[in-house]
Amino acid sequence: MIERYDYNLLKHNTFGIDAKCRRFLEYASTHEAVQLVGMLTEADRPLLIIGQGSNLLLTGDYQGTVITPQNRFEAEILTQPSASGQVLLRCWAGTTFDDVVEFAVTHGLYGAENLSLIPGEVGASAVQNIGAYGAEACDIIHHVEAVEITTGRVLTFSNADCAYSYRQSRFKREWKDRFLITHVTYQLSRTFAPRLDYGNIRARLAEKQIGHPTARELRETIIEIRRAKLPDPEKEGNAGSFFMNPVVSRAKYEELEARFPGLPHYTVDADHEKIPAGWMIDQCGWKGRSLGRAGVHDRQALVLVNRGGATGQEIVQLCEAVRRDVFSKFGIEIHPEVNIR
Ligand code: EPU
Repeated sequence: MIERYDYNLLKHNTFGIDAKCRRFLEYASTHEAVQLVGMLTEADRPLLIIGQGSNLLLTGDYQGTVITPQNRFEAEILTQPSASGQVLLRCWAGTTFDDVVEFAVTHGLYGAENLSLIPGEVGASAVQNIGAYGAEACDIIHHVEAVEITTGRVLTFSNADCAYSYRQSRFKREWKDRFLITHVTYQLSRTFAPRLDYGNIRARLAEKQIGHPTARELRETIIEIRRAKLPDPEKEGNAGSFFMNPVVSRAKYEELEARFPGLPHYTVDADHEKIPAGWMIDQCGWKGRSLGRAGVHDRQALVLVNRGGATGQEIVQLCEAVRRDVFSKFGIEIHPEVNIR
């Protein structure tokens, strides 16, 4: 186990915010996670559990304890294919999620390709239900192993226990800060069933003259699309999509559609539509603009960036300015997806 005091978190948040925490603890196994929770006292609180800090905005020094699983690759194929062709892949929480996707594609295990290049770790995939290009982590999560912080008990949660929905899970709501996740087991398939219907996947494949992509070709295409749109945190600090896409009633959608013909949307159910927040922010003229050292990315308005040396407070100010403008133009409140602490 690693233990540090007054520790700088610059390398632990992709926004590149220069902030410290009072205590920092890193666990490298289930055994260490159990030991770690046994050491915690009231004086260590509040707790902040992070992976690679790729969905985190620190607004100042953290007056509590930051806990993280060790970042290392660990993935084990648990079962040989069953008659249905499903294979279970058990991964350490601190494994970089994209390394799991790469491992899966290399070993002929399918279902994760559309989640290629999403930043972050395995543990976070189960907390945030990360998603992209028509796929979500909950489509492939079989079960989650975790240590309960107050008791040290090692528990296993099924996919249904986690109550997944769009960017949501029990770990983000009523179970917030209650568990240290140690492993996530994904259920993948030996049969490749590509999902190509989202956004410009088909168009990009057509440009490359690929009619029937292999899993490797699909993964590479998703990576290209992401790289073209999303900023590289190594060059410009960011946490991916800063806001969630709001879900509105059909009546609200119809009112907007009359005012903004061609408004992009995704149907959620018979009564609800999801409106891309990035489109609304773009319509407000924010794309590419800055406020102090915080900015709106010039190729995807849903992403706020650190133009260099920004404080967390500057990013929050930009967030609030953007939210105000979206509300006054569209009458819709948008909410951060990023964990602001
Ligand atoms: N749009 C604009 N201007 C912009 C951005 C988007 O007009 O600046 C329009 C696009 O043209 C498109 C629509 O808005 O019609 C949706 O854009 P996009 O396909 O880029 O997806 P998104 O809804 O903005 C979501 C996820 C992303 C994920 C993409 C692709 C959320 C909060 N974000 O973004 O996830 O990569 O779909 O599947 O759901 C992340 O979570 O960090 C992330 C990057």
